[in-house]
Amino acid sequence: MQFQWYPGHMTKAKRQMQEDIKLIDLVIELVDARVPLSSRNPDIDELGKNKFRLILMNKADLADAAVSGSWKAYFADKGYAVVELDARNRAGMKTITSVIMEVCKEKIERDRKRGIQNRPVRAMVVGIPNVGKSTFINSFAGRACAKTGNKPGVTKGKQWIRLNKNVELLDTPGILWPKFEDQTVGLHLAWIGAMNDEIINIDELAVELIKKLKQDYPGTIGGRYAVEGKAVDETKTEAEILGAIAENRGCIGRGGEPDYGKAAALLIDEFRGGKLGRITLERPAKHV
Ligand code: G4P
Repeated sequence: MQFQWYPGHMTKAKRQMQEDIKLIDLVIELVDARVPLSSRNPDIDELGKNKFRLILMNKADLADAAVSGSWKAYFADKGYAVVELDARNRAGMKTITSVIMEVCKEKIERDRKRGIQNRPVRAMVVGIPNVGKSTFINSFAGRACAKTGNKPGVTKGKQWIRLNKNVELLDTPGILWPKFEDQTVGLHLAWIGAMNDEIINIDELAVELIKKLKQDYPGTIGGRYAVEGKAVDETKTEAEILGAIAENRGCIGRGGEPDYGKAAALLIDEFRGGKLGRITLERPAKHV
């Protein structure tokens, strides 16, 4: 899961994507519903121009439903079809095929007018690492899928998964890099665990998360980490709050002092696992 991008990787990934994209009608782009903009690749619009577009706001089960609604409106406003998703849930896949047909109806109609029948819509899944691409492909394709193998005119080695008579999916997703040189984007991706944790200062990450939660989701930290007789006062500084979490959760060093590192790791882990509730860390400009 953990990725580090180097210029060589990026050039190769982009070249691969440019090749694959020639073969398809529809780009299915996965973003993380908790940070829908930060988890996008800045080049995808250029790469995917002239293609039908569908954005799947994945991990919606971990995101704040009200803010997801605002993000849906934001993307719809920009002309994308958009669906909220929990890629692990197969039951949610039923609607995706019909959305795909709707998004690509122009192509289907064009084919029909030209007398072309049974030419399925071809799609590929793209997104940054850890956004849920493989999970989605597995759930969407399910057990019933049949690989169609190589066909004349298709780049050698490409496998298509035939989902039904109307849709075929490239079996390997396109992996794109995020805009990690932007510090805020980097912070968002670190929070959700889409960056290499080894290069991250976990204490700082936790302090920034506490600051964010105090502001956007007041009461969340206090609610989760208070124990009987020991409240966590959110009016205190972030470091003090982290200390209180350490004490209340028994993250104590040998000398009896709070172990901030351990408390920070615990907080980040619990956030990523959804234990702090459904939280979205980024909001569209117009969200109220
Ligand atoms: P990728 O191909 O884009 O790199 O992502 P992948 O499918 O490997 O998914 C990355 C992690 O995200 C996996 O967890 C996966 O289970 C989880 N995931 C994918 N979609 C969703 C979703 O909609 N909601 C939630 N809550 N989680 C999702 P993991 O911890 O790396 O693996 P595992 O413990 O699930 O096996």
